[in-house]
Amino acid sequence: MGDAGKNKILIVGGGGREHAIAWKLAQSPKVGEIVCAPGNAGIAGFCRCEPVSAEDIPGLAALAERERPGLTVIGPETPLALGLTDELEALGLRVFGPDKNCAQLEASKSFTKAFLARHGIPTAAYREYTDADALRKDIGVFGFPMVLKADGLAAGKGVIIAEGRAAAEAAVRELMETRAFGAAGDKVVVEELLRGTEASMLCFADGSAIVPMESAQDYKRVFDGDEGPNTGGMGAYSPSLLFDGETERRVAEEILLPTLEGFKADGLDFRGVLFVGLMLTADGPKVIEFNNRFGDPETQSVLPRLKTDLYDIMEAVCGDRLSQLPIEWDETLKTATVVMAAGGYPGAYQKGDAIHGLAGVPDGVFVFHAGTAFSEGGEIVTNGGRVLGVLGTGKTHEAARENAYAGVSKISFGGAGYRKDIGVVYNTRQ
Ligand code: AMP
Ligand code: GLY
Repeated sequence: MGDAGKNKILIVGGGGREHAIAWKLAQSPKVGEIVCAPGNAGIAGFCRCEPVSAEDIPGLAALAERERPGLTVIGPETPLALGLTDELEALGLRVFGPDKNCAQLEASKSFTKAFLARHGIPTAAYREYTDADALRKDIGVFGFPMVLKADGLAAGKGVIIAEGRAAAEAAVRELMETRAFGAAGDKVVVEELLRGTEASMLCFADGSAIVPMESAQDYKRVFDGDEGPNTGGMGAYSPSLLFDGETERRVAEEILLPTLEGFKADGLDFRGVLFVGLMLTADGPKVIEFNNRFGDPETQSVLPRLKTDLYDIMEAVCGDRLSQLPIEWDETLKTATVVMAAGGYPGAYQKGDAIHGLAGVPDGVFVFHAGTAFSEGGEIVTNGGRVLGVLGTGKTHEAARENAYAGVSKISFGGAGYRKDIGVVYNTRQ
């Protein structure tokens, strides 16, 4: 067991987000030992990493049963969708992260669209299809470009925006016939195209409240100028410059409040992070999607600004007491996180390249590890697509960004790629 009176924590996942969660929880006087499965080379610097994959539900349940943590925090979406929360709760353990039923809010676009429609929450008009020919007949139903989405989890890649009929036909084949996303494409959601600026809002959520965190802006495309294919996220800064008080008020009233009411009405016992993907349109904010977890790399930019003890927040969420807990942020601190990725990401990429310069980053810069591991010789090497998230902080956005890039300039590994424009404001779809 950990130090007397302190809580042992189990963190599931091994990316930059989990490094940030572990780093923040480690600052809590209430937290003792942190175990992470599977973790990475950065997390291993201060936590005990256990080699169990974040998708191995029986393996994680066995680990949790052995460790009996006071709190388990589930980072990624897949174990949530596979019902890890339910498994651990059945063992009498406390879990931060929604159960399998609620996890459909990320794992099924059709489930979420029906939820939004049922509760009158602003979102794009939609239809859904399980038959390729029926879908072909409806090509262009909302005009062009046409938005087609695989219903299930597809690592952020299951959305196709087809400019015209030929591209839409190719998308139908890819989603439903060659099954590029496997079973995720058995059902396809077609949506009206939303125009505006894309922004996201991460919220702590339980049965008593949905409380937005400080905002952060993510950069999903791989290249500068928002070009190239979508990735998990190439960087983020906080607070976002896209939200103003009026937008935040509208999101709270028109989206978060009815979502909380919707959870109650539908018997959804949501406890964790609700990540709301938004399009800020001329008609106001509309929901593009929900995720059920902290964003990556938004978390690396947001948690450093949190003043309240993260453990207290997670404990409150687990006990449906979020509405009673004041949450404080450092309003004067700005942050920017630049992701350094392996060459070729988000396509095929190499692993095992030595990473140099980690110890040489300037003061005020912190390096969150994502895809890193130790080589047999004990060297830190690349082990994933997104390798590192370099956090810069400062009193202004500019200072935070300069700091982050000063850190990036000290680090090198074979084929390293990163965006040079994290912090620049783009309008995504006008
Ligand atoms: P999703 O996985 O649902 O977040 O979609 C991935 C990306 O596709 C989003 O981040 C948007 O850039 C884009 N997108 C999804 N749905 C729409 C829509 N209805 N209108 C315009 N863009 C969309
Ligand atoms: N950065 C986007 C996500 O975590 O889904």
